Amino acid sequence: MIRATSLALLLTMFSVSATAAEKGDAAAGKTKAYTCSGCHGIEGWKNPYPNYHVPRIAGQNYDYLVNALTGYQKGERSHPTMRAQAESMSAEDIRDIATYLSSITP
Ligand code: HEC
Repeated sequence: MIRATSLALLLTMFSVSATAAEKGDAAAGKTKAYTCSGCHGIEGWKNPYPNYHVPRIAGQNYDYLVNALTGYQKGERSHPTMRAQAESMSAEDIRDIATYLSSITP
């Protein structure tokens, strides 16, 4: 249900602007995304403990991930936890992480 909704949202957001944006290095992204799995664990898309819902990011659309992480970084997205994560990322980190995450099949 959540998945279908976000997919529809994605299609709306990116059908117009879908471009072959320059992507990053998936291998580097895998290393950089290591800490993310603590919260965005693959199983059930939940933080294991304390158990709260986190969005599914594995297999997510590349452009969506770049936009989301850049949004947290710039403060356009206000979630404090993710802002803290994104604040220390370079544009290259974001591209690498998004390349890796969008390349894996959940
Ligand atoms: C401490 C827990 C935690 C860690 C660690 C964490 N996240 Fe998150 N993340 C969250 C939560 C909670 C949200 C939902 C925030 C919101 O509602 O805006 C989120 C949201 C996101 C989103 C937006 C997804 C969407 O569909 O809107 C992305 C992308 C993301 N995280 C990527 C990452 C990446 C990449 C890392 C590692 C560098 C990471 N996160 C590490 C907890 C975490």
